Amino acid sequence: MLKELTVNFSNLLLSLSDAVDLANAEIAAHQMRTAFITWQLCKVGRVPVDRMNLLYMAALLHDIGALSMEEKERLHAFGRIDLEIHCVLGQALFELSPQFAPAAGIVRFHHRPWQEWDAPLDRSEVFGAQLLLLADLVERLIDRKTYILLQVDRIKKEVLAVSGTDIHPEIVDLFMQVVHREDFWFDLTSPRLYSLLLHSGPHRLTEIGSSDVFSIASLFRHIVDFKSPFTATHSTGVAECAVLLARKFGLTDSEIVQMEIAGYFHDLGKLAIPNAILEKPGSLTRDQFAVIRQHTYFTYSVLNTIGGLDQIARWAAFHHERLDGSGYPFHIGADRLDIGARIMTVADLFTAVAEDRPYRKGLERDKIAKILVSQANRNGIDRRIATLLLDHFDEISAQVREKQARCRTMFEEKFQGRV
Ligand SMILES: [Fe+2]
Ligand SMILES: [Fe+2]
Ligand SMILES: [Fe+2]
Repeated sequence: MLKELTVNFSNLLLSLSDAVDLANAEIAAHQMRTAFITWQLCKVGRVPVDRMNLLYMAALLHDIGALSMEEKERLHAFGRIDLEIHCVLGQALFELSPQFAPAAGIVRFHHRPWQEWDAPLDRSEVFGAQLLLLADLVERLIDRKTYILLQVDRIKKEVLAVSGTDIHPEIVDLFMQVVHREDFWFDLTSPRLYSLLLHSGPHRLTEIGSSDVFSIASLFRHIVDFKSPFTATHSTGVAECAVLLARKFGLTDSEIVQMEIAGYFHDLGKLAIPNAILEKPGSLTRDQFAVIRQHTYFTYSVLNTIGGLDQIARWAAFHHERLDGSGYPFHIGADRLDIGARIMTVADLFTAVAEDRPYRKGLERDKIAKILVSQANRNGIDRRIATLLLDHFDEISAQVREKQARCRTMFEEKFQGRV
C-alpha cells in the first residue's frame, strides 16, 4: 500500500520548467532565468507575496505554448515569428490546470507592448504581463558565450530604448534598481540557479499532494502530446490503458492514481526531441533513433530530481525497457522491473501500435495480438499482462479510444493547425 504523495511545489515547477527548455544549450533554462529576473524585480518593487508567487509561476512556464522545439528556438533568437500563437496556446494550456489558471492572462499577454494596452499598469494582469515581457527580453538579450558583466551596458541600453513604447517606464525603473548589482547577473547566469531558486525562491515551503500532482501531470501530457497531431492523444491513451490493466491486475487505489500520473508523464522527455524526428514519415535512421533513445532518460531525470515521485519516475520512464534487458536506455531486466513498470510497457506498446503514425495506419486486433504474443514469447514483456489485455481487448480498447476521442476533440478545437 502506498502513502499519499507529498511533493515540494517549487521543485516540481523548477524541474518541469527545466524539462520544457531541455531542447538545446542555447535556450536551456530560459524560463528559469526569466523567472529569476521576475522574482528579483518583484522584490525591489515590493510586490505582495501572493502576486509574486503567481508571477514567478507564470514566468517558469511562460513559453509552454511554443510546442515544438523548433518554435522555441525561433522565439529565443528573436526570429521572424508570429508571437501571438504561443501566447494564445500558452493561455489555453494554463487554463487546463486549476493551479495555473490564475496566471493564464499574464501568459496570454507576455509579448503585448505597453502601447497596445488600453488599461492602467496597476491592473494586476497588465503589471504581470509587462514585468514578464521585460524579464523575457533581458534573458534573451544575454549572449551566452560572452562574460556577463561585459554585456550589462548593452542590455541596459536596449531596455531603455523600449521604455515608454514596449515597456512601461515604471517597470523599466524596477530593472534599473538591480542592473548595477553584479550579484544579480552572477546569480542569473549561474549554473547553480536551480538550487538557488529551490532553496531561496518563491514556493520553497509549499508542499502539494496527489490531487495537485495529478492535475499538473494531466496538463503536461498535453504539452508533450500536442507537439504533433500524430501523438496528440498518446499519453491520454497510455494512462487510460495502464489504469485499466492496473485495476484488473488488482493494484490498490493509490497505486492506480500513481499509474495514471506516470502514464501522463511517461513521454515527458519527448519535449527535448525535435519534431522533425517525431513526425518523420518513414523509419528513422540510426542517428535519429539514437536521439529518440534520450527521451525516457529525460523523463526519469526530470521526475526523479523532484523528490517524492520515485515510484512514478520508474513507472513512467521504464516503458522501453524489456524483461530480458534488451530495452533502453537503462538496460534493466526482470529483477528491477516491478509490476507497475511492466504494466506501463504493455500500455505504451498497445497504445502506440493502435494509433495512426505518419508512416502507417493504426493496427487491428489480430496484428496487435501478434506483436504482444511475440514480445511475451521472447521475454520482452510480461506475459500475464499481455494476456490480461488480450482477454479484455474489446473493453480496454473501446475505453482507451473513447478517452482519446474526447481529447482529440479538445485538441482540434483549440490547438491543431496553430502548432
Ligand atoms: Fe514568449
Ligand atoms: Fe520566453
Ligand atoms: Fe516512449
